[in-house]
Amino acid sequence: MKILGIETSCDECSASVVEYNLNDDQIPVLSLSTFSQIEMHQPFGGVVPEIASRDHLEKINVIIDQALTDSNLNFSELDAVAVTTRPGLIGPLLVGLSAAKALCYSFKKPLIPVHHLEGHISSLYLDQKIASQFEYPILVAVISGGHTNLYHIKTPPHQWNESILDQACIAKSLDDAAGEAFDKTAKALGFPYPGGMWIDQYATKGDATKFDFPRSYIKKNDLNFSFSGLKTSFMQKLSQFKDEDELKKNIPDLCASIQEAIVDTIYLKLKRALELYPSQAIAIVGGVAANSRLRDKLNALNLPLYLPRPQYCTDNAAMIGAIGAFRFSQNQFIPYPEYLKYNAKN
Ligand code: KG4
Ligand code: ZN
Repeated sequence: MKILGIETSCDECSASVVEYNLNDDQIPVLSLSTFSQIEMHQPFGGVVPEIASRDHLEKINVIIDQALTDSNLNFSELDAVAVTTRPGLIGPLLVGLSAAKALCYSFKKPLIPVHHLEGHISSLYLDQKIASQFEYPILVAVISGGHTNLYHIKTPPHQWNESILDQACIAKSLDDAAGEAFDKTAKALGFPYPGGMWIDQYATKGDATKFDFPRSYIKKNDLNFSFSGLKTSFMQKLSQFKDEDELKKNIPDLCASIQEAIVDTIYLKLKRALELYPSQAIAIVGGVAANSRLRDKLNALNLPLYLPRPQYCTDNAAMIGAIGAFRFSQNQFIPYPEYLKYNAKN
């Protein structure tokens, strides 16, 4: 079967065609077309919802056309459209959902509404032959700009149903997510948005033991994450430098130290989670899964580490197509034309 995925929940306008064979766990990506709005939001230091909505509206048709052209398919050859309907910025979500509804209605196709985080988890199965050999249960960490959630996934994706996120969730971020902690501290150092990758790069030249930042919420005997205190502690440290020059000299050490605090917190929570929820492997997905120190450090957990291919870590429509395919294979979709009254949720 062939599914068109659409993702517009934040600042990436993306469409993709993926292929799926029943009961298989690997999903070949036939095409992926993405426009990132990052540069448009950079002057504001974060995503501006109004700008995001308007730009999605301008680009969505072109992006979908491109994905279809690159897949060498026309719309009537597709089985269904999967679209992110929650959570995210409501304007951008509505643009993607409206485009999906219009296409499905014109061609009398079914529509599959999907949760963005299920998409991130499904990114593990994109273009990876090895996905068929994954062993379960897997402890999956979704670590993105908006979430730091842990899931204990017991079954392969072709057996998941719509309540998988509720059933499998064992921890959430109570305030700032790990990606937000990277972005806010990077912003304070003058790096452009999103700052995670800059911290990652500069940290390679710094000393992670130079500054001592707290391992947030680690003494609490639960698995949830809280990163908002880390930002406060980072700002306090910055205010102690006597001038800009002194701060600039310390940027690599600050990056290495703050990165170590975030990564160490994730590591310690995962270690505790594994004691409570024995697993055959660990997986990390979401933008922060690209972090080099996190990937290194998790090797110390002595379990196989499953990662999406780098191009599928940040927001993309292929992962939405993947979860759509798993759903469609179990007849979980909204038939023509019932989806016309379906709404998005932020
Ligand atoms: O999954 P994603 O693209 O969007 C959300 O759904 O939030 O994740 C974006 C996040 C941003 O916070 C960004 O700074 C972070 O992923 N990120 C990184 C790295 N690359 C992206 N954080 C740390 N190290 C990286 N190399
Ligand atoms: Zn995301």
